[in-house]
Amino acid sequence: MLQPSVLIVDDETAVRENLAKYLSSDYITYTASNGSDAIKIIEENSDIEVVLSDMKMPEMDGIELLDTIQGTGKDIVTIFVTGFSTIESAVNAMRKGAYDYLTKPIDLNKLEITLKNAIEHKKLKSENILLRQQIREKFDATTLIGNSAKIKEIIDLVKRVASTRATILIQGESGTGKELVANIIHYNSSVVDGPFIKVNCSALAEGVLESELFGHEKGAFTGALYMKKGRFELADGGTLFLDEIGDLPPSIQVKLLRFLQESEFERVGGTKTLKVDVRIISATNKDLEKLVTEEKFRDDLFYRLNVVSVEVPPLRERKEDIPPIINYHLNKFAEIHNKKISGISKDAMKLIKSYSWPGNIRELMNCIESAVVVSVGDTVTANSLPPFLTSSKTSKLLSSQPDDKLFEIEKKAILDALEKTNGNKAEASRVLGIGLRTLYRKLKQYNVKG
Ligand SMILES: Nc1ncnc2c1ncn2[C@@H]1O[C@H](COP(=O)(O)OP(=O)(O)OP(=O)(O)O)[C@@H](O)[C@H]1O
Ligand SMILES: [Mg+2]
Repeated sequence: MLQPSVLIVDDETAVRENLAKYLSSDYITYTASNGSDAIKIIEENSDIEVVLSDMKMPEMDGIELLDTIQGTGKDIVTIFVTGFSTIESAVNAMRKGAYDYLTKPIDLNKLEITLKNAIEHKKLKSENILLRQQIREKFDATTLIGNSAKIKEIIDLVKRVASTRATILIQGESGTGKELVANIIHYNSSVVDGPFIKVNCSALAEGVLESELFGHEKGAFTGALYMKKGRFELADGGTLFLDEIGDLPPSIQVKLLRFLQESEFERVGGTKTLKVDVRIISATNKDLEKLVTEEKFRDDLFYRLNVVSVEVPPLRERKEDIPPIINYHLNKFAEIHNKKISGISKDAMKLIKSYSWPGNIRELMNCIESAVVVSVGDTVTANSLPPFLTSSKTSKLLSSQPDDKLFEIEKKAILDALEKTNGNKAEASRVLGIGLRTLYRKLKQYNVKG
């Protein structure tokens, strides 16, 4: 592995040289006898990750050096070495962003540990920045794929409300993209660097859900050995996503209402009132308004949750979104499964479009993934689609606009039946199980004179 690089800055030659020698087995070392030389070396060597510098030096002292390093915008961790007289400045340097300080005389074991930690810290920090950036890209508003007017409207609305603190209710059938919308809102909001906490309100029993949401005090119930923070507390300064909100039991509905009105709550078994700053996004595949009329969901809570309403339509109401969604997920799954697949055949697309997709995008995604996996060539064909799409029932749906192969099969079946019944169309239609008018229409389509 590549050795990390450390720049040692000290005006005393002996100290500098000894440290460099000591560290040289594990690090690439650079040395400088003053601040301005140090800066020059930093500018010229992009590999320097850590600066280990004396605090008290003539000309430029440690604090000034730190300021200058920070001014370069380079991602460098700084560790100071300080004598008794400069401890205060060293503490000050840490406040300004230095990683740590060591006191003279330097304990070499401590030096090694501190350097190792500093490099690890830097690595984690840059990984974290990268991950955050990736997640933001992943939930950019353009990841909600679709050309339909409805999807465009949603994207537009999401862009407008994301940066506000408004409470948002997302409604739509299962698998339509509600959670995706919630993610996009959070990652485009002003609290993007705050926590994003999710709770599935239908997954937990009433008692567990309450302490999960609001936390509990030590001894609140049997088994409550420690105080535990709830999701509302964990989401402080960020977003709380309450999924399947339609399943929230009445006792918790009351507490949530209070939170939405006053931003206050108590932990289970606690008396202290806690206040947090949390943006609430909720989602459900149930008809909440209907639950309200059935008195299963409080109307006052419904209005509090539904400040901004996002309705994600089912896929069957926006079939024009199917091709771009297929395209997007085809590329994604081809990459994941290491396959070279560039497109989908006309037949396959027709079959997919003629299906009603009760499971919406999730079901369509599963279908695309399995098609990608079983496909042989560079195109997904009807043959690689799951059986529920290629079964006779769906094929029949297609026969009103037959593609070549189906057209031939159908034509042959009809002509055979006519032959068997000696051209008796009424009987042939009975044999085929289709109406006489359909038979006439088909014959006209085939240009067969009846
Ligand atoms: N417009 C879209 N473009 C691309 N992918 C989408 C789109 N909508 C949804 N998806 C994907 O479909 C899958 C299902 O979406 P999601 O989990 O958001 O649905 P949901 O409405 O929350 O479903 P459920 O009600 O079952 O919880 C996810 O993998 C999501 O990334
Ligand atoms: Mg969901």
